[in-house]
Amino acid sequence: MAESIRIAVISGSLRKGSYNTTLARYIARHMESMGGVEIDEISLSELDLPMFSEDLEAVEFPLKAIDLKERLIACDAMLITNPEYNGSITSALKNAIDWATRPRPEEAPLACFRGKVGALAAASPGGLGGLRGLRHVRQILAGIQVFMTPAEYALGKAHEAFDADGLIIDENAARIAQGVGTQLVETTRKMKG
Ligand code: FNR
Repeated sequence: MAESIRIAVISGSLRKGSYNTTLARYIARHMESMGGVEIDEISLSELDLPMFSEDLEAVEFPLKAIDLKERLIACDAMLITNPEYNGSITSALKNAIDWATRPRPEEAPLACFRGKVGALAAASPGGLGGLRGLRHVRQILAGIQVFMTPAEYALGKAHEAFDADGLIIDENAARIAQGVGTQLVETTRKMKG
């Protein structure tokens, strides 16, 4: 049996009842069902990171940011769902990425990101599902050395998409969302050798 892979799952929403968190969990459940996959769901609302500032960082690197960094370093891959805010990334997600890129002593550059595999999805009540925001998130992650998988999914009409258990109702939509997870797992396994 191949060594298991560990995948960080992050929703860029802080909202209770977030569609993006529901979508992230849906894809995470699918990835777990593939076997040999450990999920670490990193909740940005629970983490409650301070807004990044070089002044704050110079005084003391926050324990919450260290926690985020250690958990990302321990992962082989990351699944990120981003609510599109004004056509782009949420401030919560960008803030987390900014903290995680900051170096700590005796750490390789971009240790949370370099060589990791990344996959993206989004959900929005709007028709485009947050597709425009994913362009920006992809560019940011590729710029910090994450190998981005080509599959992605922007789930439109998200307020009607899930049942009470957080499952995607439409069969075709469910298949595409699962495909994002499948490709992330398969690519990560290949990269791990
Ligand atoms: C939005 N929303 C939104 N939706 C969209 O499809 N494109 C957009 O550009 C925006 N812009 C935007 C800006 C701001 C500041 C807010 C608060 C909201 C609507 C957004 O998709 C909706 O609130 C989702 O429910 C947010 O995702 P979660 O929190 O449900 O995961």
